[in-house]
Amino acid sequence: MAQRTVRVIMNGVTGRMGYRQHLVRSVLAIRADGGVALADGDRLTVDPILVGRNAEKLAALAAEHDVADFTTNLDEALGDASASVYFDAQVTSERKKSILKAIGAGKHIYTEKPIAESVPEGVELVTAAREAGVINGVVHDKLYLPGLLKLKRLIDSGFFGRIFAVRGEFGYWVFEGDLLPAQRPSWNYRAEDGGGMVLDMFPHWNYVLENLFGKVQAVTAKAVTHIPERWDEQGRKYTATADDAAYAIFELEGDLIAQINSSWAVRVNRGELVEFQVDGTHGSAVAGLFGCRIQPRVVTPMPVWNPDLPTTEDYRSQWEQIPDNAEFLNGFRAQWESFLSDVDAGRPHPYDLAAGVRGLQLAEAGLESSAQGRRVAIDWFGS
Ligand SMILES: NC(=O)c1ccc[n+]([C@@H]2O[C@H](COP(=O)([O-])OP(=O)(O)OC[C@H]3O[C@@H](n4cnc5c(N)ncnc54)[C@H](O)[C@@H]3O)[C@@H](O)[C@H]2O)c1
Repeated sequence: MAQRTVRVIMNGVTGRMGYRQHLVRSVLAIRADGGVALADGDRLTVDPILVGRNAEKLAALAAEHDVADFTTNLDEALGDASASVYFDAQVTSERKKSILKAIGAGKHIYTEKPIAESVPEGVELVTAAREAGVINGVVHDKLYLPGLLKLKRLIDSGFFGRIFAVRGEFGYWVFEGDLLPAQRPSWNYRAEDGGGMVLDMFPHWNYVLENLFGKVQAVTAKAVTHIPERWDEQGRKYTATADDAAYAIFELEGDLIAQINSSWAVRVNRGELVEFQVDGTHGSAVAGLFGCRIQPRVVTPMPVWNPDLPTTEDYRSQWEQIPDNAEFLNGFRAQWESFLSDVDAGRPHPYDLAAGVRGLQLAEAGLESSAQGRRVAIDWFGS
């Protein structure tokens, strides 16, 4: 059994996603477990180099987690020939220029979504990565959620028959910041800083839809700002210039309709913070982050509409949970393992920057539909 090490430059590790999901739950967890177990029995250990703007915060993180290298100078980190991968979890508005630098330094690229703030910027990244011949990947974490893995298993088994409808509900109440501090960063609510529900979530919905159900052909969306004023991390009041909710209908290939509501201004009355109901001729399912419950055709009850009588049926109890039947890794870690294995093998990662551009295309089409009040057909990049 051979052991190799991949050194990863990680930028944005003081942030919410960069720290918790990518550094602690993925890269450090992989390191603690002795590396990625590769298909041929070899092991690939991982060694992070932390990059950020605040030397004190980085030093504290490095000391707490026993990381040897950190710097506030991205160019210096990129000049380290022993590091072959650059990862970016900075605020979206900072991403493009850092990734271009990393590509220029010949690093393989792994990044949070959205990959940039616009489609042309995303295409610039794809072109640069192709010309440099570097392996590239974009976080597709939702595909690795236990609930969606169970849903994928159902689809692959033919459980649904012909799928014709998907309904997604995503979101929760994000506090305004006056009575209680907001639980998400304030830049998320300022368009000028790269915020906005559509730019944030449509890239996720695009890869979920295209990998599970089929490509989106057209979108009709309404993006709105329900909460016009919020308070930031310093307690200062600011104007929320970005959309905090989006209500969308996606028309997919194969006559499939997907409707997804995304909102930071909704109080949760659901089993999980995201749920997708999938309806097919032979059965239906409701998948969340962890769970997935089903109702096959042959056990579908027959509801009868009668407004004169109170409901006696417990509709929720008429669904059956799919058992786990497997141990699921943290979704972010699972994709890190797959990306690093691809880098080690020198093969493309399936969820690449071009997929990231398609995510941005869906976001732009959604915003265009909302602004113009019309259905927008999508002409996919690269097709
Ligand atoms: N995959 C997911 O489910 C998911 C969820 C949330 C956010 N995200 C994405 O992750 C990225 C980070 O989001 P977050 O919620 O962790 O944000 P955050 O504000 O918590 O972290 C942002 C990071 O960028 C750094 N940063 C902030 N302003 C900067 C600037 N001007 N220059 C350089 N660095 C700067 C911060 O120091 C911090 O390290 C965003 O692109 C967001 O879209 C992904």
